[in-house]
Amino acid sequence: MLMTASSGLDRILTLELVRVTERAAVAAARLRGRGDEKEADQAAVDAMRSELNRLPIRGTVVIGEGERDEAPMLYIGEEVGVGEGPEVDIALDPLEGTTICAKNLPNSLAVIAIAEKGSLLYAPDVYMDKIAIGPGYPDDVIDIDAPAVENINNLARAKGVPVAEITACILDRPRHARLIEAVRATGAAIRLIGDGDVAGVIHTTEPDETGIDIYLGTGGAPEGVLAAAALRCIGGQMQGRLQLNTEEKIARAAKMGISDPEKVYRMDEMARGDVLFAATGVTDGNLLAGVKFGRASIDTHTIVMRSSSRTIREIKARHQDLGKF
Ligand code: FBP
Repeated sequence: MLMTASSGLDRILTLELVRVTERAAVAAARLRGRGDEKEADQAAVDAMRSELNRLPIRGTVVIGEGERDEAPMLYIGEEVGVGEGPEVDIALDPLEGTTICAKNLPNSLAVIAIAEKGSLLYAPDVYMDKIAIGPGYPDDVIDIDAPAVENINNLARAKGVPVAEITACILDRPRHARLIEAVRATGAAIRLIGDGDVAGVIHTTEPDETGIDIYLGTGGAPEGVLAAAALRCIGGQMQGRLQLNTEEKIARAAKMGISDPEKVYRMDEMARGDVLFAATGVTDGNLLAGVKFGRASIDTHTIVMRSSSRTIREIKARHQDLGKF
């Protein structure tokens, strides 16, 4: 039985997860820079699914490739694992940043989070407003309902630096024009990213390495839950609100158990209990190197962590048995 009374999920699973994201990352990386998002995503999905089905779990995908009628594999509700072991919820994105991978730009990842059953927010595939900062700040430095200027000023004060030394990460989208203007008006800098806001949120946790202090803006809700799972393990603060702005979306969310369409979710409401999180770099990034194909080996770089122990491991693996890839 892979469950312990005091600490939830068995820690063996932490290392098992690494194989899952490694396999997906390698499969996607073979298709880096080929301009075909769908093919790269499909390769990552196939690889992640086959590796997940070796894990000693009774897993249910709660954040996946989409709803059953639109995603044949790793759809929401799909059961994965060998069918023995702990019952767990799984959030996954076999290729986060499909366009980044297709263009061979930085920070595409293979990502997964596993939590005790019922611990992850069952978020529909809609947009989510997000705000996140890394660890080490007092509670309530950020407030998703406050103007950007207030959040940036609070953060600069808490960090003990002038506002000009704060950098916000924002997805480069027309919908963010006013946000970008508001942040620039504070004197803070902006890192505009083309895609990949799971990495964007995680990057707030290592501002010295990544140069990013705060993540702001609207991206996918599934990516929001994955980012919250990562932050639960590393530490940090995050808030998210689903954009349920049509009757159809409200109804879809209601089917997933969401009764208050306006609710602001804190990080620990998006990912509760004991959470395991792993991400392997597909393309080179600020925190993780991308997959490297050698003549007789493949190198991968993975971060894997667990909320109950707050252990963060980086695993640089050299795979020499290329048959399994
Ligand atoms: P994909 O991996 O599905 O391509 O998503 C990439 C991404 O940039 C996410 O990181 C982000 O949350 C979302 O798309 C933003 O959505 P949109 O491209 O519609 O603005």
